[in-house]
Amino acid sequence: MELTRGVLVTGAGGQLGTALSEEFADVPVFPLTRGDWDVALPPPAHLPEVDVVLHAAAWTDVDGAEGHPQEAAAVNVGGTQHVVELGAPRVVFSTDYVFDGLKREPYVESDAPNPRSVYGRTKLQAEAAAGDDAWIVRTSWLFGWTSTNFVRTMLRLGAERDEVAVVDDQRGSPTYVGHLAGNMRELLELPQGVWHLAADGECTWAGFAAAIFEDAGLDCRVRPITTAELGRPAPRPAYSVLRSQRPDAPRLPHWREGLRACLERLG
Ligand SMILES: NC(=O)c1ccc[n+]([C@@H]2O[C@H](COP(=O)([O-])OP(=O)(O)OC[C@H]3O[C@@H](n4cnc5c(N)ncnc54)[C@H](OP(=O)(O)O)[C@@H]3O)[C@@H](O)[C@H]2O)c1
Repeated sequence: MELTRGVLVTGAGGQLGTALSEEFADVPVFPLTRGDWDVALPPPAHLPEVDVVLHAAAWTDVDGAEGHPQEAAAVNVGGTQHVVELGAPRVVFSTDYVFDGLKREPYVESDAPNPRSVYGRTKLQAEAAAGDDAWIVRTSWLFGWTSTNFVRTMLRLGAERDEVAVVDDQRGSPTYVGHLAGNMRELLELPQGVWHLAADGECTWAGFAAAIFEDAGLDCRVRPITTAELGRPAPRPAYSVLRSQRPDAPRLPHWREGLRACLERLG
């Protein structure tokens, strides 16, 4: 795809939006934060015409969505409808949480979604609202060098404590936003529709935490706990590894490589 008119990024203040804005810095890029455009509202009149919209804005507070379903839907579903109104082809980011997690082998694009949380339901509705002219990218367990995320939280806790309790009965593929953003140009040359794009490999949150401490040289133990012990408001899939069944799908590096790249970036 020619990107002469450029790329508009929503959610540019978030961890993925930051990585996308950086990735497309060699073409005209219009990074819009929530202050520039609250996507729950119709698009402002002055937005530039672009070749593609990378829609990374979302209500991502999974637990908060349980108590605020209408507000979460206004951002996730309404926001996607408003992006469609711009008329440009679009990449809409979705999530492993559209699946119920009952499988024990990777979820592929043809598997039937069955979200268990409000967040997952709004994201599935957003997929339906994305229209025909869209790439729907389902990804999982994102982490990067900005915003609040699991890696940054563990680095903070690991420096403060001798031990942290981390859930060990949810499996997924932690995906580095730099690697996902780096695959977008390849995706834009491929047909539209649903694509599963997540890091290679899989682990539990406890395994991820142990790798973070090891690679960061932090002397902190991981105490494995169950999801029930943690007692969060939103249900989460016990297993949500994503793989693509499409032969030409872009391949992302292993999550361990993503972790190393993220730690280097964080200095
Ligand atoms: N994080 C994950 O583990 C994960 C996993 C799978 C898929 N995804 C999907 O990947 C995409 C990017 O997620 P992320 O991890 O980059 O999330 P993030 O860091 O929370 O970024 C989301 C951004 O959206 C913005 N936003 C929230 N409400 C908005 C509104 N009404 N109007 C405009 N902007 C708004 C937020 O702004 P504020 O900072 O001002 O709130 C934030 O900058 C989302 O579609 C998410 O559902 C995420």
